[in-house]
Parts: sequence; structure tokens; C-alpha cells
Amino acid sequence: MNWKIKALLQKILSTTKLGDNLNHIPATLNKKYHYNVALYQTYECVRKFSYCNIDLSTNKTALEIGTGYSLISAAVLSLLGFQKIITVDITEDIQFSTCKKQISYLEEPDILKIIYPKSIFNEQEIKSKITQLNEAHTLQSLFDIFNTTYIAPYNFNAILKHSKKIDYIASQVVLEHIPSKILNELFQFTKEVLHKEQFCVHTINFIDHFANPGFFQDKSISEFNFLKYSDDYWNYWAGNSIAYTNRLSHVFYLELCKKYSLNVVDFIGENYRTRKGLDAKLIHVDVLKKYNSNINIEDLTKYQRGTLIISNT
Ligand SMILES: C[S@@+](CC[C@H](N)C(=O)[O-])C[C@H]1O[C@@H](n2cnc3c(N)ncnc32)[C@H](O)[C@@H]1O
Repeated sequence: MNWKIKALLQKILSTTKLGDNLNHIPATLNKKYHYNVALYQTYECVRKFSYCNIDLSTNKTALEIGTGYSLISAAVLSLLGFQKIITVDITEDIQFSTCKKQISYLEEPDILKIIYPKSIFNEQEIKSKITQLNEAHTLQSLFDIFNTTYIAPYNFNAILKHSKKIDYIASQVVLEHIPSKILNELFQFTKEVLHKEQFCVHTINFIDHFANPGFFQDKSISEFNFLKYSDDYWNYWAGNSIAYTNRLSHVFYLELCKKYSLNVVDFIGENYRTRKGLDAKLIHVDVLKKYNSNINIEDLTKYQRGTLIISNT
């Protein structure tokens, strides 16, 4: 299906109050949706954490950027041993019923076995914490049990009111939805609040989301199709709260690290699906203008997804 059909629907939905929730409904119709979310979020949360050498035997605070519709990452950070968790988003999308369903799946052996090896708690302690979470009757009691603060909508000052310093910052497929100006603020904030020698891990999806699998997928386009367009044209179609992606590659994030003196421990680039390349000559000048240095244009389409591991030295 032509990507503009989905873009048009999202553009219309974004003008309604419930637009983002309605846009999210099709994904939740899958019977195994909540189990799949619990498994995926647990796996990704532990994978990112495992790139860092963080000693959880003393009190540590974690910050999650972009909570989305699930509290699984925050719960898993607590089960790993973080003492305090702050999770933030620009919109308040968390619902108690959804959280309860997903948290109940943390008891599944497939999921527990991802958490055990990296946690400071033993099997019995983890199970007992999950039992406590399952017994919560309100969202606030869930937050209290795993010492989590949810701020949505947030700003950086609001985070500072809860913690002046952070030991670990993580995000999962969020940064690509943030405009470059705010990304600059986020990286500057990271430099200021991240404790020395501590880590920040962002997993970023670099591809055109209109090429994502699903009913509305446009199978005819390259996964970097969106790089062909001017900023004005792209903003007309996707410059709304549901569809917005910044069209930035890993190169931009590496430049940000340099700008804010953050140490790049590693960048793990991935191509997780069949490639449908985009001729570099088709990349619009507005896209190229987003970069400071003399970039290799081929690098802008090198990775579909990547994990950036940063430390504050
Ligand atoms: C694709 S969802 C990912 C949510 C969640 N991390 C997950 O893995 O399911 C992107 C999320 O980023 C959030 N977001 C967009 N701009 C943001 C910003 N400036 N700061 C924090 N979160 C933001 C959106 O509201 C949305 O919840």
C-alpha cells in the first residue's frame, strides 16, 4: 500500500485527542500482544544494560527516556537491582490494566531466565518482587513497589527535581522521534546529570517507519525512502505527533557525543531485515545539511538500527 495512505490517516488521527491511542490499537489485537511486549521489552532492557559495567551493589538511579505504553522496562530495571527508576515521556500513555497484564508475564520462565543472570537478587527474591507487583491495585501502588517515578509530560527540570544525578540512562526506539534541537538538549543534559564513569545506552531505529511491516506497509519503497524528500515535503506528510521521525542516521548521534564531550564506548550497527537500498544520489540536500562534518554519504543508509553506548568520562 502506498505510504501516503498511512501518512494521511496518521495525519488525520493526530488532529484528534485520542489519535495516538487509536493508532496503537491495531498492534494490540494480536492475542499474544502483552506476552510479546513483556518478552521483547525484557530482552531489550537487559541487552542494553549488559553492555555496561554497572555495580548495582550500591544504590543506583536509572532514567528511561520514552516510556511509551509499557512499564516493563522500568519494572525490569528494578528487578535487576536499580534502587530508583525515573521513566519519562512527552505523553501520558500508561494504563494500569495494560501494565498489570504485562507484568503478570514476568513470571514466565522464558522471561525470568533473561533477568536472573544479570540481577543482584536471587531467584526467590525476584519471584517475590513480581508477586508484590501482581498484587498492586493501582498504578501508584505499582510505582511505589518498584520505587518508580513516571513523569509525563516531562521536561529536564522536572527530572532534576527527583534526582540531581543519574547512574544509567536508556531508551528504546525513542530518539528517532525527537527533533534535533531537543536531542541537543538531551545530550547536554546527559553530560550534566550522568555520574562520572557511568553509562547511557540508546537503541535507535533509523529507517523510514512507513516501510515497517504491517497492514499498511509500503513494500515498494526503500527502508530509507524518507531521505529523498525536502524538510517541507516531509513535514507536510509526517510532521505530526504520530508519524514524526527525525530522519537522522547514527552519524548525527556520534557528532552529538563529540559536541557534548561524551565518550562513545561502542556503537553497534545492525541490519535486521532484508535491505532495499537507496541510491545515495537521491538523498535530499536538506538531509545532508543536518550534519556538521564532512560525512561519507553512504554512511547515512548504512544501518537500519543501532545501539549507542556512551559513558561520561
Ligand atoms: C516507538 S515509541 C517507543 C516506546 C517504548 N520505549 C517502547 O519501546 O515501546 C516512542 C516513544 O517516544 C516518545 N517520545 C517522543 N518524543 C519524546 C521526547 N522528546 N522525549 C521522550 N520521549 C519521547 C513517544 O511519546 C513514544 O512513547
